[in-house]
Amino acid sequence: MAERCVVVGAGGISNAWFGPLKTEGVDVAAVVDLRVESAQAQIDKYELSAEAMSDLEGALAKHQPDFVVDLTVPEAHCRVTTTALRAGCHVVGEKPMAASMDEARTMVAASEESGKLYMVSQSRRWDSKHERVRRTVASGQIGEVTTICCDFFLGCHFGGFRDEMDSPLVLDMAIHHFDLCRFMTGADPVAVYALEFNPKGSWYRGDVAASCIFEMSNGVVFTYRGSWCAEGCHTSWNGDWRIVGDAGTLLYDHDQDPVGQRVADMANPGFHRPLADIDVDDSSVARGGMHGGLYEMLTFLRTGAVPQTECHDNIKSLAMVFGATESARRRERVVIGI
Ligand SMILES: NC(=O)c1ccc[n+]([C@@H]2O[C@H](COP(=O)([O-])OP(=O)(O)OC[C@H]3O[C@@H](n4cnc5c(N)ncnc54)[C@H](O)[C@@H]3O)[C@@H](O)[C@H]2O)c1
Repeated sequence: MAERCVVVGAGGISNAWFGPLKTEGVDVAAVVDLRVESAQAQIDKYELSAEAMSDLEGALAKHQPDFVVDLTVPEAHCRVTTTALRAGCHVVGEKPMAASMDEARTMVAASEESGKLYMVSQSRRWDSKHERVRRTVASGQIGEVTTICCDFFLGCHFGGFRDEMDSPLVLDMAIHHFDLCRFMTGADPVAVYALEFNPKGSWYRGDVAASCIFEMSNGVVFTYRGSWCAEGCHTSWNGDWRIVGDAGTLLYDHDQDPVGQRVADMANPGFHRPLADIDVDDSSVARGGMHGGLYEMLTFLRTGAVPQTECHDNIKSLAMVFGATESARRRERVVIGI
């Protein structure tokens, strides 16, 4: 029998979810939005036999879904997700997990107390290139990772809520890069020094650029430089990456296949050691982006396999975000606690 869900939030990102829900044969019983007309518009657009509603509790009581898809704005994630968990539903929710660490901890506690799964859709994990980087690093060809660098520079004129946020880059975008760092290398955050700033000529109200140095587990250092207010010579949305190990380096930039070099002869006494190209993994991810996250939820429902972005893990990526904003505010090193 098809799994049943209720979708909450019928805004822009819901367009990335209704296709995969249909492809996987999920029964969308209701679409809930504060603006019921937005819910109805998406139901019409995707030809769903769902009910448009504005009352979440009522929708859960009436339709008894197996899981809830939380596509609301970050400020609503805690309320929507805890309401769904306490009503006995599993939840897959959009990133970022929450608008504060306190809210995120409340959500993790609600998952534990209800015995229901809460996972975050960290969509960039389900991407063939990122899987190739992860597997190539794990192959050991560059040795043990010591240093990670990511640059992200785009000039983006969004209009809307991002123009008014205090920390649009770190809160809304860098969460993807911080999570990718953890995904691709397996390193977890320890502490951070960060500077957030709003470059001259910026069209944003808040600090839209940041330089962050993270101390990661095993002594790894991750340096992140980013801006959404950088005209020209754009990086990719995924960022441009250099991952250095004690035996080689892997580069991943402009969304091209990763390339790398490793030391061919460790015993060679020359100034530069002889190098050889790395064999880069060529895996493909069958279901990319939101489809990948949805499929991990469905796999959990069918087999019990815990998704990689289950809340106890994903909160570590969120902690990098709030560690960075706190360090920038205090202008000092901040230890990253969960
Ligand atoms: N993974 C990605 O790449 C990606 C890309 C864009 C957005 N997102 C995330 O998706 C989420 C939604 O973003 P969006 O661009 O769709 O925003 P949006 O503003 O277009 O849509 C949000 C919708 O949620 C509704 N809503 C807000 N609070 C609600 C509540 N309490 N109950 C019911 N409905 C509520 C709003 O009325 C609106 O229709 C955000 O967390 C955002 O960060 C992720």
